Amino acid sequence: MSNDAYSLAAEAATALRGRTGVDSFDVALVMGSGWVPAADAIGETLAEVPVTELPGFLAPAVAGHAGKIRAVRTESGLHALIFLGRTHLYEGRGVEPVVHNIRTAAATGVRTVVLTNAAGGLRPETQRVGEPVLISDHINMTGANPLTGSTFLDLTDVYSPRLRVLAREADPSLAEGVYVAFRGPTYETPAEIRMLRVLGGDMIGMSTVLEAIAAREAGAEVLGISLVTNPGAGLVGEPLNHEEVLAVGKATAKRMGVLLSEVVNKL
Ligand code: 6GU
Repeated sequence: MSNDAYSLAAEAATALRGRTGVDSFDVALVMGSGWVPAADAIGETLAEVPVTELPGFLAPAVAGHAGKIRAVRTESGLHALIFLGRTHLYEGRGVEPVVHNIRTAAATGVRTVVLTNAAGGLRPETQRVGEPVLISDHINMTGANPLTGSTFLDLTDVYSPRLRVLAREADPSLAEGVYVAFRGPTYETPAEIRMLRVLGGDMIGMSTVLEAIAAREAGAEVLGISLVTNPGAGLVGEPLNHEEVLAVGKATAKRMGVLLSEVVNKL
């Protein structure tokens, strides 16, 4: 990463400390499409800052991607940063804005990062729409990487086995799967979906993997959870749309909120 990206994150962290009155945060949660309604369950809101008022963040590009950062205090007394919305690679501004949230969080002291997303299900035989799935591993097909140069970071356990155990203690019915990321913004063709099933993917989306890599680079532990909002193209025959993704999030907000608050209170 360029030095600039790190110093921009340090600047954003300083601004965030000033705006929230919180000196150091313990955990960051990135709420993907469909997850924003679950945010209220995580803790008591201390402050909320529009991302456009902080250095390095881009204005949200898509309906349902809120573009705010909320500082909360959890029941267990931890300080959490909740990112209501994120920047995606498909917005075309490169990889650095996509991981600026993670680098800013790390610069405020965060050691645990919870990444959520809405995803297409590649296994409709076993997955139901509205179901949360723990991310056990990923396949990065975005063609991008937040690291440059000779940073040969090991990615054996990107999604912390320890945190996955905690999440399954909170919800023993949670399944696990491999998340594949495409750059988007198009959804996949039926042929691509069939390919991803052969390659061992279980969920498909357009986020998370670059943030997970940036979090590991910063030394934070990562938990990833997908909300399966629809089957991949061609698997059941219906075309996909973004409204459907948001509607599933609304319908499942309660369960997702309980899951996130229980996980965070176990940290
Ligand atoms: Cl089917 N594909 C991608 N790339 N992202 C999604 C999705 C599908 N469903 C929700 N998000």
